Amino acid sequence: MTNVWHEPAVRGPERFKEETRAVHGNQKPLKLLDRIIRASSDPGDVVWEPFGGLCSVAVAAFAAGRRCYSAEIAPAYHAVASTRLAKCAPRPRAAVSAA
Ligand SMILES: C[S@@+](CC[C@H](N)C(=O)[O-])C[C@H]1O[C@@H](n2cnc3c(N)ncnc32)[C@H](O)[C@@H]1O
Repeated sequence: MTNVWHEPAVRGPERFKEETRAVHGNQKPLKLLDRIIRASSDPGDVVWEPFGGLCSVAVAAFAAGRRCYSAEIAPAYHAVASTRLAKCAPRPRAAVSAA
């Protein structure tokens, strides 16, 4: 393993879309996040995702047996992330929405 990791942009069913348009322009690939999380934490650890977007880090963290707290300031992204997390973790918490 080197310190340069390549992963293509998110496409296909993993990509959240509204009709033909991506919901979030910077949605990260779960495969890359899984690698980062496993390389830097142990099962049961807490992962902090301060700029959540669609909370892909939390999705990968739960799948890898970690806990996760996320924040997202934009209500529209927060709403999609909350729905997404409700489907993948027993008691997900995506925190913080703004104004
Ligand atoms: C690069 S995107 C994160 C994308 C995310 N990794 C994903 O896969 O969907 C950064 C996010 O941080 C959010 N953001 C910016 N400032 C913030 C703040 N002060 N608190 C919480 N979220 C913030 C933006 O609205 C944006 O959705």
